[in-house]
Amino acid sequence: MKEIKEGFVIETLEKHFGFSTFRTGQKEIIKDILSGHDVLGILPTGTGKSLCYQLPSILFRGITIVVSPLISLMIDQVKQLKAKGFKRVAAINSMMNVEQKKAIINNLNQYKLIYVSPEMLQNSWIMKVLLTQHISLFVIDEAHCISQWGHEFRTDYLKLKAVISQLNNPPVLALSATATPEVQQDIMHYLGRPKMLKRIYPMDRENIAFVIEHTANWTDKVDRIINLLKEKQVPTMIYFSSRMWCERISTILGERLPNRNVSYYHGGMDSEDRLLIQQQFMNNQLDIICCTSAFGMGVDKPDVRLVIHFHMPTQLESYIQEVGRAGRDGKQSVGLVLYSNGDEQIPLTLIEQELPTDKQIQDVFHFLSSTTIRELPQLEEAIFINLELNETQWGFISHQLERNNLIENGILVNDHSKWRTGLETTLAYRNKRMRNKEELFTQFLSWIHSTSCRREKLYESFQNGFTKPELLCCDHCHSVLSNWQTEGLPIKDATYNWNEKLKKIFQIG
Ligand SMILES: Nc1ncnc2c1ncn2[C@@H]1O[C@H](COP(=O)(O)OP(=O)(O)OP(=O)(O)O)[C@@H](O)[C@H]1O
Ligand SMILES: [Mg+2]
Ligand SMILES: [Zn+2]
Repeated sequence: MKEIKEGFVIETLEKHFGFSTFRTGQKEIIKDILSGHDVLGILPTGTGKSLCYQLPSILFRGITIVVSPLISLMIDQVKQLKAKGFKRVAAINSMMNVEQKKAIINNLNQYKLIYVSPEMLQNSWIMKVLLTQHISLFVIDEAHCISQWGHEFRTDYLKLKAVISQLNNPPVLALSATATPEVQQDIMHYLGRPKMLKRIYPMDRENIAFVIEHTANWTDKVDRIINLLKEKQVPTMIYFSSRMWCERISTILGERLPNRNVSYYHGGMDSEDRLLIQQQFMNNQLDIICCTSAFGMGVDKPDVRLVIHFHMPTQLESYIQEVGRAGRDGKQSVGLVLYSNGDEQIPLTLIEQELPTDKQIQDVFHFLSSTTIRELPQLEEAIFINLELNETQWGFISHQLERNNLIENGILVNDHSKWRTGLETTLAYRNKRMRNKEELFTQFLSWIHSTSCRREKLYESFQNGFTKPELLCCDHCHSVLSNWQTEGLPIKDATYNWNEKLKKIFQIG
């Protein structure tokens, strides 16, 4: 690929994407990719990581595969590319029926860029067809998911190394906006690419000011939000720790802010509803979204001005991702965290629910090593019901069964010593993960209680230094909210109002 000239790359940028210049880091990463290197690219939220693989995919002869964590993210990207005239792109996801999947899989060579979830790459039918194709580039977008989710919630992230080698080891590009040096190590380790070229850029966002306010309790938080949103008429996202809270506060805000359009978004809603809410928010038909962490990644709305955390996330990395939805157009925006004493209990409970207890692990191992049925799929229901595991906890254990070779092709092995050492390894691993999660949360808490510049402290574990904004930095440096000049809500996207549109066309009324 060395023969691709820089001028041609710029021409492609203009022709296919309508941009005249590259943003920081894009050119360097694209150049490395076109030269066939494996690259780990860290660029701040909202600065254009997608282009780093979209542009090369046009120039490559074969297919570029992009592993993406969310369906809404894939659908959005495919839609945006198609709107730009790039038709040879598709997403394969669990929302599609078999016929829809077949339509893509059976015509793979018509596509240049294919988005898939890590789970889809465990499907032998899909892998068999991919094997018949030339894969030019294998991309892992939001690569921090490997480290953040791979161990419990989505263990197929840890199987990507095997997928890449099955696909004849194409060059790999891993992208993220939030990866500490440890997470970067994790990404390279789990992808089996310890020598990736690192293209790491500062991830701080100069135009986001950080504010943490202490509140007495949750009703105080609601009052604070209502006062603020009456004063600042800006597109806003409010993060909650649970579905219940996000619905409950959305209803209250809807009643008490009649001039604003409020709704909610969480993982318990069906995919169609979620897509609809996301689209309405993008089109300015909604201007306040109460959401859980399920909303965020890939939401490329340029003018979100305010991101409020009603509840704390469990780590700084998630906070940086979530607040990174603000000010993607570069204009002044604010991240506000509302904190009441005792709030730490919620994230701590969440962390605990992400891992099985020692007792649960012992019970599952005891049950599986002694039961007469040896087919694991037949036992899953009994495990869920009798041992009261949630899906994440079971995800962790079943992955440990695979890692410790206690299961072969879905059949449990009959070797007592293997089960004994497997149990010890799993317990040790669980404790390591728990300590890691607690440590990350302690880091977040110390940020909440910090007495020096929030910006400095927020990025401390990710990079050396940051750009200090002159106007609004954080609540310790400036009086942010009283000095924040807002522009007001953007005009609603009229294209969605067909009545109005038709009236205009026919000049009625
Ligand atoms: N060179 C460029 N010039 C102008 N705009 C660009 C350029 N590259 C990307 N953009 C725009 O920047 C916006 C953000 O891009 P993108 O979604 O790829 O960001 P990201 O880094 O992946 O963000 P996130 O971390 O949230 O996933 C998009 O609207 C995109 O069109
Ligand atoms: Mg992205
Ligand atoms: Zn500051």
